Amino acid sequence: MALYSETVMDHFRNPRNVGVIEDADGVGEVGNAKCGDIMTMYLKIDGDTIADVKFETFGCGSAIASSSMATELIKGKPVSEALQLTNKAVAEALDGLPAHKLHCSVLAEEAIKAALKDYYDKHGIEYDHSLFPDCAHCEGCE
Ligand code: FES
Repeated sequence: MALYSETVMDHFRNPRNVGVIEDADGVGEVGNAKCGDIMTMYLKIDGDTIADVKFETFGCGSAIASSSMATELIKGKPVSEALQLTNKAVAEALDGLPAHKLHCSVLAEEAIKAALKDYYDKHGIEYDHSLFPDCAHCEGCE
C-alpha cells in the first residue's frame, strides 16, 4: 500500500488557499518544536462565518496537505464549526495519514484554533478559555 493516499498527494501537489490575507481578522502561527515545521493561518471573518482562509506552511508534505485540507473544511462555515475542527477530522478527510505523520494534522488544528483565539482577542470577544488549552507540550503534539 502506498504510504500516502491520493488525497494527500493531491493536496500536497495542488494546495488550496495558499497565501496571506493582509487585513486578516485573525492570524495563528504555530510550530512543532521537534520537526521545526511552521504553519500560519489567516482568517477573514464576516459576522459568524469564515469568509476566507489562507495559509502558509513551511514544512513537510503532510503538513502542507493538512493545512490545505483544513482550510477547505472550514471555509464558508460558521466560526463555531471551525472551532470544533479536530486533527482527526483533517486526517480522515485526507483519507488517512501514516501514524508518524499524524502530528502534522495536529499542527493544522492548532493553527486554526490559534487564529480564532487571535480573532477573539483582537475584537474583545468573550470566549471560553478552555477551548484553547495550551497544548504545545502535550504528547499528542510531539
Ligand atoms: Fe513536522 Fe510534518 S513533519 S509537521
